This record gives sequence, C-alpha cells and structure tokens, in this order.
Amino acid sequence: MHELTLTRPDDWHTHLRDGAALATTVPHTARQFARAIVMPNLAPPVTTLEQADAYRERICAHIPGGTAFTPLMTLYLTDATTPETIIAAAASGRIAAVKLYPAGATTHSSAGVTALEKVYPALAAMEEADLPLLVHGEVTDDDVDVFDREKVFIERCLEPLTVKFPALRIVFEHITTADAVDFVHAAPRTVAATITPQHLLFNRNALLVGGVHPHHYCLPVLKRERHRRALREAATSGHPRFFLGTDSAPHERRRKESACGCAGIYSAHAALELYAGVFEEAGALDRLEGFCALHGAAFYRLPVNTNRVRLVREPWQVPDSYELGDGRVIPLCAGATLNWRLVHEH
Ligand code: NCD
Ligand code: ZN
Repeated sequence: MHELTLTRPDDWHTHLRDGAALATTVPHTARQFARAIVMPNLAPPVTTLEQADAYRERICAHIPGGTAFTPLMTLYLTDATTPETIIAAAASGRIAAVKLYPAGATTHSSAGVTALEKVYPALAAMEEADLPLLVHGEVTDDDVDVFDREKVFIERCLEPLTVKFPALRIVFEHITTADAVDFVHAAPRTVAATITPQHLLFNRNALLVGGVHPHHYCLPVLKRERHRRALREAATSGHPRFFLGTDSAPHERRRKESACGCAGIYSAHAALELYAGVFEEAGALDRLEGFCALHGAAFYRLPVNTNRVRLVREPWQVPDSYELGDGRVIPLCAGATLNWRLVHEH
C-alpha cells in the first residue's frame, strides 16, 4: 500500500504549552488533527472556565490561516474544585473534560489532587453532568517503584472510582502497561484509554541502554518490551475503547538535558506518521482510521470529522530540532527516517 486516506484524526491528549511555544505546537498539531484535547497543566494551572476561555483564545491566535482546528479545553482538577465550577463548566459547552493529576505525579502537578476522597463532590457533579474525567494513572507514594505506579494506581484508585461513580466516563490517559490494557478490556464501557506513539515504538531500553536518553523520558515512564507489545496489540486490535492521544509534551532542550531533566516527549511534529508506521508494522493499516479518527469521537460523543487527510509512503527525515520559544525542542525520532508522510488534506 502506497497511499492512505483517512478521516481527519483528533489528538485526545496534548500539551500545547503557552506563550511563544504556541507558535510551534499549534501549527504542528493543527497540520494533522481537526481537534485536540488540550491539557490544562500550565503554571498556574487552568482551573476555571474563564482561564480556559482565555487560554483557548491564545491558542486560536496561532492556528495557521486556512486550517480548521478546534482546541477542546479541559479544566485541571484540584482539591478545591467545587461542584459549582463543574456544573458551570459543563453548562457552558466549552469544556470537554476535566483532568485529574495526582499531586506530584508529573510536570506541573503540584496543584493536583492529594486524596481522591477530596474530589468526590466534584466527581459526583461530573458524573451527573456527563463530563468526562481524564486521569494521569500513577500513584505517587514514595514506596512504590516508578515502574509499578500505573499498576498500583489501577488497584488503589481506578477500580474503586469505577465502582463509586459507575456512570462517570473515564479516560485512562497514556497507558503504558499490559495491566492497563487488561483493565480496560475488563472495565465497563464508561472506561477508555489513550496510547502515545512513544509507548508503541519504544521500551525502556530506549531510555537507559548505552547511556541515559533524556529525550525518551516521559511519564508514565517507558516500560518493558512485554508491555509495549500489549499496547501495540490493543491499539491495532480495532477495540473501540483504545484511541489516539499523543501526550506530546515539549520541553526546551536545556530543560531535558539537565541534572534533573523534565518528563515529556514532543511528538506533535509527526504523530500521525509515527502511528501509521506502527500500524503498518502490525499489518493493521486498515484499523488506523478507527484508532485515530473514530473511536475517540464516539467516546467523547462528538461528531466524526468530515474532511480527510492523505498519507503517502514516501520516506522523509525528521528534523533534529524545532524552535520552541527562545530555545529548541528535540522531537521524537529526531533525525530518523519515517516511511509515511502526511501530504495534504481535502
Ligand atoms: C507531561 C508534561 O510535560 O506536561 N509530561 C509527560 O511526561 N507526559 C505531563 C504528563 O502528561 O504527565
Ligand atoms: Zn500528558
């Protein structure tokens, strides 16, 4: 197969950042995706409808002319989020979901939730208003190994949540383990998961063999090969509750190549092309459209996009870096040759 046309896809999990970074992230994301769920972990976090509205306007100012792109805004859940805030957000129609970061789990999560019980009133309001909950599924306990934090989160937090709030739609974001795949398979239809390109492409050797590779460091951290295989199987299986979420999370090069490097991998420059390579390897190109453009829309209860994108099998080389604010970002697969290229939309 040398050419593919697909319904224009959506990215159900991205970090566009703010300020000058938007000049890079927004055109990259809008080139491929019709819509994107925009993470609210700015500093300070986006916790109110007014902040989300202002952030949307800053994003929209960077959409290239002639490109149709809709940022789907989210709120950052904190211990102090009130049911009133949730009700107003849902009623506005301008908030697509609410994001739960366990406090301290990842970049800009210090304002996150310190104990699930503290957000029960907000979660009850979300369940009632049918506003989806997006979770960063890792515990933060010092005594839990970083490679086990997702598995332990499932047992301690996620399973109980699905029991306590049976009608709450939950997206288990950027899953990284076979345990998470199994959980989604067994979970009620209210639970779905996103999968990133890096967790489909790499295992933890890419982070740690032959030296430490900070541009392969993200959270949840890359896992063993057996987990990568389970993720590839889930993504390419056609199961409707697994869908695309890049977790593209740019940090300036100097903040990654550091004694305490930031977590986050930038993939907005080539996400669809990277996923296409994975599906091709799995002999599942016929399922790429479901994963990229159909399953997420159905779960979010949004219309499927009506325009299309075209991918051609034409090798191209990923640049070594891109501008990001007044620095540079090293993208996923920097310098590598990718087989699929997004050429055009209609
Ligand atoms: C994200 C970021 O940098 O904002 N980092 C990451 O490693 N994925 C935060 C997140 O989604 O965990
Ligand atoms: Zn993220």
